[in-house]
Amino acid sequence: MKANGVRLLVAGGAGFIGSNFIRYILAAHDDWQVVNVDKLTYAGNLANLEDVEGDERYRFVRADICDANAVGEIVAEGEPDAIVNFAAETHVDRSIDDPGLFLRTNILGTQVLMDAARKNGVARFLQISTDEVYGSLGSWGKFSEDSPLRPNSPYAASKTAADMLLRAYFKTYGLPAIVTRCSNNYGPYQFPEKIIPFFVTLMKENQPVPVYGDGGNVRDWIHVDDHSRAVEAVLLGGRPGEVYNVGGGNERTNIEITKLLLAAMGKPESLVRFVPDRPGHDRRYAIDDTKIRTKLGVTPQVPFEEGIRETVRWYLENEPWWRAVKSGEYLSFYDRWYRQKGRS
Ligand code: NAD
Ligand code: TYD
Repeated sequence: MKANGVRLLVAGGAGFIGSNFIRYILAAHDDWQVVNVDKLTYAGNLANLEDVEGDERYRFVRADICDANAVGEIVAEGEPDAIVNFAAETHVDRSIDDPGLFLRTNILGTQVLMDAARKNGVARFLQISTDEVYGSLGSWGKFSEDSPLRPNSPYAASKTAADMLLRAYFKTYGLPAIVTRCSNNYGPYQFPEKIIPFFVTLMKENQPVPVYGDGGNVRDWIHVDDHSRAVEAVLLGGRPGEVYNVGGGNERTNIEITKLLLAAMGKPESLVRFVPDRPGHDRRYAIDDTKIRTKLGVTPQVPFEEGIRETVRWYLENEPWWRAVKSGEYLSFYDRWYRQKGRS
């Protein structure tokens, strides 16, 4: 795809990864323009992008990606060169609690965006998928792009369905669609329901942190800026119809992560609570990222310990941000999922 004067439509840009990606792109490319289309669900937050609000290359439009009329108009008017779709319901526990919305946004919303892309001749459609589509690993091996898709949570199943639709749109309509499948992200502006910001914000208040099961589940952590760099590279150099894994090369158990956070915050290990496990909890994720390394030259840059220290510092320095978010709807989910289910 062309690299100059790109008009980008980012769906879900008010969430964690989307907002970091928009900030990254505007800093990296003087002549790119970004339209951010977001419904502003509980996870969408315009405060994540306060620093770019006044930038004339950036525009926000509030819309639901399932709304075909709204999306059709936005795409027809904006004539984007590329669409990058971050918009999704993203929390595994919420998908177990109430799957319906996940199917609507993650599957039908993606289809609506793809239809608008093909009707308007958009040159690239990049779907931000997840390694969770591959299911769970035992103690050895890694997911490659050819691994079987065996999703275990309603969230992962909905993301898998979207990936399959992308494949179908590429084969059937020739939509120039590409999929990235990234591992667990961390960094600033992550909604404090995901383990790292959730635990940091609990530790700050000397509250116990609920570690599911035996704490031995493994995730491969990547800094959100490394994810943004990978998405940019795939957008510019990826091949339509293909899938690219993105990983941090950084596998940690949940209890290791928890202890790292406790140490970074100077808090005692007595705050750890082992609580009843998440149903269907995937044991281990690990990414083989040979393809993106060799074809596009992408490798993660942020050393994990450094990234975690900076991330913890960010949450400590931005307490008003997470205090504002940890209210209303957040509290009712917390009560239903943790307190009523004996997980706190
Ligand atoms: P997030 O929950 O922080 O943000 C999701 C954003 O999508 C929010 O701004 C929300 O308002 C918006 N949104 C939700 N439904 C919408 C709808 N119907 N219409 C328009 N906007 C809608 O999520 P995130 O962690 O930033 O994840 C972004 C994407 O990356 C998701 O597609 C997710 O599956 C994928 N992903 C996330 C991770 C991770 O570790 N967080 C890892 C791999 C892939
Ligand atoms: P999460 O941040 O929800 O991401 P994902 O499920 O998409 O990987 O969870 C990361 C890991 O942390 C996962 O193995 C579940 C675990 N976890 C806990 O042990 N306790 C918690 O309260 C949460 C939210 C997650």
